[in-house]
Amino acid sequence: MSATHATSEARDAEAVFLRRHPDYEATAALDELRRTDFGRLDHGGHVYLDYTGGGLYADSQLVEHMRMLRENVFGNPHSVNPTSAASTEMLESARARVLEFFNAPPDEYEAIFTPNATGALRLVGEAYPFRTGDRFLLTFDNHNSVNGIREFARARGAETTYVPSAAADLRVDESLLPRYLTDTAGEHHNLFAYPAQSNFSGVHHPLEWIEQAHSHGWHVLLDAAAFVPTNRLDLGRWHPDFVALSFYKMFGWPTGVGCLLARREALAKLERPWFSGGTIVAAFVQRQYYQSAPGAPHFEDGTVNYLNLPAVQIGLDLLDRFGLETIHARVAALGDWLLEAIGEFKHSDGSPAATIYGPRSWEQRGATIAFNFLHPDGRVVDERYVDRVASNHNVSLRTGCFCNPGAGEIAFTISRETLVGGEFGDGMALDDYVRAIGLPSGGAIRASLGLATNFTDIRHFIKFAAEFIDLTHVPSDLPTRTAC
Ligand SMILES: Cc1ncc(COP(=O)(O)O)c(C=O)c1O
Repeated sequence: MSATHATSEARDAEAVFLRRHPDYEATAALDELRRTDFGRLDHGGHVYLDYTGGGLYADSQLVEHMRMLRENVFGNPHSVNPTSAASTEMLESARARVLEFFNAPPDEYEAIFTPNATGALRLVGEAYPFRTGDRFLLTFDNHNSVNGIREFARARGAETTYVPSAAADLRVDESLLPRYLTDTAGEHHNLFAYPAQSNFSGVHHPLEWIEQAHSHGWHVLLDAAAFVPTNRLDLGRWHPDFVALSFYKMFGWPTGVGCLLARREALAKLERPWFSGGTIVAAFVQRQYYQSAPGAPHFEDGTVNYLNLPAVQIGLDLLDRFGLETIHARVAALGDWLLEAIGEFKHSDGSPAATIYGPRSWEQRGATIAFNFLHPDGRVVDERYVDRVASNHNVSLRTGCFCNPGAGEIAFTISRETLVGGEFGDGMALDDYVRAIGLPSGGAIRASLGLATNFTDIRHFIKFAAEFIDLTHVPSDLPTRTAC
């Protein structure tokens, strides 16, 4: 195909796309941002479609962060000297900025800095006052960092219950939810955890569940890690007790900083299992007693990542400059197009060349799409081969189960009996297990969109996907699977 022909074909495709998504043109400022601040993607020939794995930073975020570090002297905030005071001021200003960004009333919420969303989830899990007879309720559709809380619950005698999702949309049957929410144990402590957006299927689970759960006496832990990069979470409107997130997923830089947004009322119920530097006002050795620090510092172990906190403010400012609504509209238009393209992907005999796990229409979902390529006879294309072809095209996708086994078990119709029947024995490799329980592949493919995604990325993805048309077999030298 000649270059001129290819260009005119791209222009035609873009014209069709724009007719279908007239709102997209209002997001043109993000094309300019892509040009000025994400040139490294195009210079390197990258097609980055793993924003749910990690967001990307704009060049200007780094420049501004480095300028602040160069122009100031920051000491450890746990002291009162001038450089410490500068850091403390920066820490408190970052806290206030985070609350402001999420419209969280400061008299209702605290912003606690953690290493990541997992750190925020762990804080809740290890300190929630689970006792015998208490309940931990969570959706099948959860990241392992939420699933892991069941180990704290179990150790303290609380009962864990999972709310199933239903194929093919991978949503919770809403008529079932009240049955779970009304099954509480009276005055006991009850914690309900779910993701605002699935990191597997992109499903948006309703924020209305928060009040529903409150009315039955549950505390609500909202995992917002996959939701907040492209959706507005307004804590003036919704009042979950705990919200977990990682900033690198929102704007790429910095890594190593997350946040637990917690309602003061719920925070007061947590029982930390230890104390450390930073979390106390005083502790003694001869008398084994300590006095906790009030508010957020009680939950911030050791020295917070203070040199990276200015970058959190810079990142939030960037999102505000373009507007989350604009970012949302952009990924919705591009995501809708990608979803449709994957759904309509066919072999030359007309058989489907891909299958989508999760909703196939653009309501109540985010720009994270899980799918598998199919051979013409309906077999799933081995995800390790997809990885290989994607690398050849410089396409960054995620493959596997995305740390969300529950969504995978529903998507691939793996029953409890199958899992109970097939023990993951010591020394077993993941590959042996996949074979033992008869799975057709080691998981799915995930494409996720974000701040810097543009029309050309999706075009390139479609070109890459064409490699799977009429593919009847894959090479036998694929690497061993080591982790899900
Ligand atoms: C929905 C969800 N929750 C929690 C996490 C854990 O985030 P982190 O690894 O930053 O702690 C992730 C990461 O992908 C996620 O997508």
